[in-house]
Amino acid sequence: MITVTDLRKVYRQGNREVVALDGVSLSVPKGSIHGIVGHSGAGKSTLVRCLTLLDSPTSGSVSINGAELSASRDADLRTARRRIGMIFQHANLMDSRTAADNVAHPLEIVKTPRAAIRSKVAELLKLVGLEGFENAYPSQLSGGQRQRVGIARALASDPDVLLCDEPTSALDPKTTDEILTLIQDLTQRLQLTVLVITHEMQVIKRICDSVSLLEAGRIVEHGPLRTVAADLGGRLSSTLLPLPPAETNGSGTVLEILYSGDSASEPVLTGAARTFGLDLNVLAGSVESLAGTQFGHLRIQLPAGADTASLARHLTGQGVAVRVVQEETS
Ligand SMILES: Nc1ncnc2c1ncn2[C@@H]1O[C@H](COP(=O)(O)OP(=O)(O)O)[C@@H](O)[C@H]1O
Ligand SMILES: [Mg+2]
Repeated sequence: MITVTDLRKVYRQGNREVVALDGVSLSVPKGSIHGIVGHSGAGKSTLVRCLTLLDSPTSGSVSINGAELSASRDADLRTARRRIGMIFQHANLMDSRTAADNVAHPLEIVKTPRAAIRSKVAELLKLVGLEGFENAYPSQLSGGQRQRVGIARALASDPDVLLCDEPTSALDPKTTDEILTLIQDLTQRLQLTVLVITHEMQVIKRICDSVSLLEAGRIVEHGPLRTVAADLGGRLSSTLLPLPPAETNGSGTVLEILYSGDSASEPVLTGAARTFGLDLNVLAGSVESLAGTQFGHLRIQLPAGADTASLARHLTGQGVAVRVVQEETS
């Protein structure tokens, strides 16, 4: 488990101060994957550097399984760092070394005996599905295979936490899917605590159990994926469950409705239409499964003069989230 408490990082540029992290707190349980999304400049890279102690936070703390990393004295810092494995957008392998020797590198640094390195490397390459590729050089491997070597190398020091910085941003969709499956599988098998920094919502949707939205150094939305997706007014919801753009039709009120799990939309919607004697016009809709829950998201337009408030109350009463996106125009 990793716990980040009130992390602040202020950079000085001449006599100007740049607040890159402005009180970031988060907690990720063992065996789960937490996604961090945010636009460029939000503070993602700074967070990564502070978590790996490559950069020292201005204040706040980072602890792994209750032990505070930032409290480690210099001598312990290297050991502390080994509790966090990192994978990057580009695997950052050494071109002159074979796959096996790349994975061996972190073990050589801490002077692991050669025989132990050999068996550990074989075990790691097998774990990431690269058995038989021990002697291949990075140039002989595909992008996905290189990323697998990077993952094996990150796991060499038996870390508790795996920090993934844009792990699939340089990969094609099929390879992305394979690498995400691998990360998910390793999280379970090794009971890792995983943080994934990404700008790709697909990655969040596909493997994350929970998510935080980072904006100008602050976490402005966070929670289990399911909860965040169900929050129709939130910003993550509309990117997790996007609706295609649609023309409105006439002057009636436009609503967005979101239902999940057992509140099946069609009966609810047709029931509401009947109850209120309304002819509802569905402008756009999508049905998606997210974090094991089925979500339906619809944009509907009511006829002019409809009793929007009563309809919204009725739907809300049935467990459907409702948001007015356009008031009736006259
Ligand atoms: N070494 C630095 N010195 C000064 N300002 C920095 C430094 N690193 C990052 N920043 C600033 O901190 C903010 C967050 O940057 P960064 O963490 O790189 O965001 P992201 O990775 O989300 O794009 C930006 O305003 C950036 O200009
Ligand atoms: Mg960055």
